[in-house]
Amino acid sequence: MSVKSQTISLNRQTTTFNHPKRFIEGWYWAIPSRKVRRSQVKAVNLLGKELVIYRGKDGKLVCFDAYCPHMGAHLAEGTVEGNGLRCLFHNWKFNANGTCIDIPCLGKNIPIQLKTWHVEEKYGLIWVWTGDIPKQPLPFVPELENYRCDSLLGSHFEKNCHPNVVMINAIDAHHFNTVHNLPLEIIFAKQQLNENAITFSNITRGGENSFFIRLIRPFYKNAVTYSMCYWYGSTGTVTVGPDFLHFHIMFALRMTENGKTEGQTILITKKRRGILGWLLNPIVLWLTKIVGNYFAKGDTKIFKTIKFDLKTPLKADHAILQFIHHVDSQKTLAWGSWELIEDRWREEDRIWKLKGEAND
Ligand code: FES
Ligand SMILES: [Fe+2]
Repeated sequence: MSVKSQTISLNRQTTTFNHPKRFIEGWYWAIPSRKVRRSQVKAVNLLGKELVIYRGKDGKLVCFDAYCPHMGAHLAEGTVEGNGLRCLFHNWKFNANGTCIDIPCLGKNIPIQLKTWHVEEKYGLIWVWTGDIPKQPLPFVPELENYRCDSLLGSHFEKNCHPNVVMINAIDAHHFNTVHNLPLEIIFAKQQLNENAITFSNITRGGENSFFIRLIRPFYKNAVTYSMCYWYGSTGTVTVGPDFLHFHIMFALRMTENGKTEGQTILITKKRRGILGWLLNPIVLWLTKIVGNYFAKGDTKIFKTIKFDLKTPLKADHAILQFIHHVDSQKTLAWGSWELIEDRWREEDRIWKLKGEAND
C-alpha cells in the first residue's frame, strides 16, 4: 500500500498540545522529597511560577507562592519555625495555612493571606496541584491502583522539545521498528480513565512472522503487553513485560522555559510480602531500570532537533491523534500565572497548528 493511500485527511488546529505557554491543570512533580528535610525550605520554579516548599517540624509539607506579601522578599531566604515560615526581611511569620500570624514590632496583627498550593508526596517526589482543589489523585499505574508499591527514582533528564511531543513517542508504533529495532506489530485501543487520564494498550496478537514475537509469545496468553497511561498529557507510565512480571516505568515530565522538557523517571513495582518481597523487589526495580533505559535511548537525537508538525498523518499515527485530542480537551492553564485559559480565548487564539483529526 502506498503512503498516499494510507494518508488520513486532517484539518484541525491544536489549542494546548505542544503549546509553549500552556499546560493542563494537574499534579506535577516539583522536587525530590529528600531535598526538603524537616525544618527546611526550598525555592522551586514550577511551570513558570516561583514557589517555596517547606517541611514543618511535624514533617508536613507546605507550598506557598514564593514572594512575601509585605514587600516581596523571597520566602526561601526565610526560616522554618515550628510548622510555620518566617520571612527574612521584616520577620513576618506565616502558618501552614498561609495566614500571617506574627508581625514583630507592630504590636498587632493584620489579616494577610499568602497563596498556598496543595502538595503531596509519592514515589520519592513532592508533587504540586496547579489548581485550587485537586480533582484527581496523584498519577498512578492503572493495574497497580489498589496495591501498595515500591519505587525508585531513575534518571533526571532534559529534552529540547515539548513534554507532549516526548510523551507521544511511547505510542508512536511506527518508530518502534525504525528507531528501536523492535519488530513489534502494535494496535492500540484507548481507554479514558477519567477527564485527565487515558491509556493506550496493545490489542493485537499479530506479528507472528517475526522471529522476535515467536520467541516471546509463550510468555503471553493474549496480546503482547504494551500499555501506556497518560496523566495531564505530561506524565506517562509504560507497562511492558511477560504475563508473570510486568515492568512499570513512569516518565514524569514538566514543561520548562520555551516549551522544553524536564523529566524524571520513576521505577515502580507492586509491594511483595515477606522476605521474598524484600529480596525480589530491588531486583525487579533494577530490571525495570534496564527496561526504562532501553526505552529512553534511541530518540535522543530526534528530540534535540525536532520541530513537531504532523503534516502527513497515517493510519499508524491514529493513537497520536487521539492523544492530541485528549490533551486539547482538558482544563488548560497559562504558563507562569497558572490562570485558566478561557475557551473563548482558545477559540480566538489559533496559532498552534496541527492539520487535523482522523476521519475514521
Ligand atoms: S518582605 Fe517579608 S516581612 Fe517584609
Ligand atoms: Fe522512542
